[in-house]
Amino acid sequence: MCRAGAMRATPGAIWTRAGRDSAGRRSFTALAVLGLTACGPPMAALDPAGPQAERIAGLTYLMAALGVAVYVVVIGFLLYAAAHGSRRAVSAEGPATEHRLRVWVAGSVGLTVGVLLALLVLNFSTGRALGRFADTDAITIRVVGQQWWWEVEYMDPAPSRRLITANEIRVPVGRRIRLLTQSRDVIHSFWAPNVHGKIDVIPGYGATTYFQVDEPGVYYGRCAEFCGHQHAHMGFVLIAQPPEEFEAWYRGQLLPAPSPADSLAQLGQEVFLSRGCVMCHSVRGTPAGSRVGPDLTHLSSRRTLAAGTLPNSRGHLTAWILDPQTIKPGVLMPPNQLEPDELRALLAYLEGLR
Ligand code: CUA
Repeated sequence: MCRAGAMRATPGAIWTRAGRDSAGRRSFTALAVLGLTACGPPMAALDPAGPQAERIAGLTYLMAALGVAVYVVVIGFLLYAAAHGSRRAVSAEGPATEHRLRVWVAGSVGLTVGVLLALLVLNFSTGRALGRFADTDAITIRVVGQQWWWEVEYMDPAPSRRLITANEIRVPVGRRIRLLTQSRDVIHSFWAPNVHGKIDVIPGYGATTYFQVDEPGVYYGRCAEFCGHQHAHMGFVLIAQPPEEFEAWYRGQLLPAPSPADSLAQLGQEVFLSRGCVMCHSVRGTPAGSRVGPDLTHLSSRRTLAAGTLPNSRGHLTAWILDPQTIKPGVLMPPNQLEPDELRALLAYLEGLR
């Protein structure tokens, strides 16, 4: 069944639902009943966490209110006509009735055009307002959509502060973010409804969008354009943190992967570098440098595996390494045949990538 509601995960528990104040939740739920929200994971367009999403939510409420008003008026006339129409039609014919009919038809056509024009103007002005959030001081993040995950690159002007990660975007609250979106294969759509609308991610056509998150929290986003077999498993996590927490995280992510802590992890690193893993993944500080799959330098600091498909736990990681095709059929990652002690060592190594 469709789960709808104001959902915001608290840090540390992205699968938990956490609400807003009860009044906001009530009004949101009322609209959810009208089918105005997306179903599924914790993400809600009508629970804005930044100025851009607020504009979009405002437009949604206005359009919904106008739609409801039109509906009520039409149903009112329908009921009136059902109750009185046939009697009038029989009792009053002639030029007076014809004139009145003309006035009514012209009036309703005028009203319809007026409502449509109002919607057009509202839509246009919201689009213009969203375009005015451009900011030269913004943090630039490039997100590259591909089947079926997101590469995330922090494009710091200082080359030593450039950072690549995957499927998890962290931002400081209150800072403007310049989001550059690109695709490596087919058309995707980047959608983090709590912060902005859907952004088409089209091959060969980069787009720039600005957003800002004002409320710290863990938000959820996903691909919103059908892009193949695993379109439904192309999610990401968006974490907004106080600036100092973000900076601490960022500095940690800039470091190369920690050296294996013990002999088991050391063996795991050898497995990683001698088996299929190294062909597709990067771990900074080791010879693994491919960008076919997600960068794993700080894998165990992330909340999810396989682009928001699984929580990042030992059990899920084991299942994913051994047989990704069962979890996400069609994904590029092949199954891995490992001896039990190789698998244990590889898990120890990957879990040490903090
Ligand atoms: Cu990518 Cu749907």
